[in-house]
Amino acid sequence: MERICEPELMDDPEQARVYSEADFAASDAALVERIVALAAPGGLGSKLVDLGCGPGNLSFRLAERYPATELVGLDGSSAMLALAEQRRQTEAERWPHLSFRCLTLPLTSGDLGEMAGRCTAIVSNSLLHHLHDPAVLWQTLRLLAAPGALVHIHDLRRPQHPAALDALVQRHASGCDPLLRRDYAASLRAAFRVEEVQAQLAQAGLGSLRVEAREDRYLEVRGRLA
Ligand SMILES: C[S@@+](CC[C@H](N)C(=O)[O-])C[C@H]1O[C@@H](n2cnc3c(N)ncnc32)[C@H](O)[C@@H]1O
Repeated sequence: MERICEPELMDDPEQARVYSEADFAASDAALVERIVALAAPGGLGSKLVDLGCGPGNLSFRLAERYPATELVGLDGSSAMLALAEQRRQTEAERWPHLSFRCLTLPLTSGDLGEMAGRCTAIVSNSLLHHLHDPAVLWQTLRLLAAPGALVHIHDLRRPQHPAALDALVQRHASGCDPLLRRDYAASLRAAFRVEEVQAQLAQAGLGSLRVEAREDRYLEVRGRLA
């Protein structure tokens, strides 16, 4: 099945609201545990960036787990970031080192500021498939990462056939809001396959990172940069 891109930013307020109200608790909690396991025993270091953070699902969980780490959530959607910021401000004392910035990849040198080459960990959930040019993500890692930075990129994996896509939507999104179901199908269609990501990493000179399929619908890119 050929890849069909979907819009990069999720900047429709209704789309952002529906996404933020969806229950991703189980998969988000499992993802955090995998990041924690990869980071052990030293943790995530001093500066963590969550690329394409959306309403902050992963950011808030990691901020709770690593309260001493400075954590910046980046997203190009002001609708998503308004939701993240609203939650942050509701309990500001709970997240003393968490902030959100509205920035769209590819980042410019002006965007990078003090983050350039200083990030000890870079994580991302469900951003890669949104990027029309996936090389943008791999270039961003290079710009942000401190030497030896930990990387954990989690995303959907494109099924082989339309029937397999329909089965995934049925299995995982049948009870969801129709807008979320529509976006889920479009995201699966826009996602990459493991071998495609392997080729992207080789092209970007990021051979130290490993890609693997997970469960029936995910892929993961993990490791440390040289
Ligand atoms: C499916 S959501 C994932 C949100 C969050 N990471 C999570 O774990 O639930 C994808 C997010 O990536 C953002 N995004 C897509 N393309 C982007 C780009 N070029 N620059 C910045 N953010 C982008 C979208 O606006 C959206 O909020």
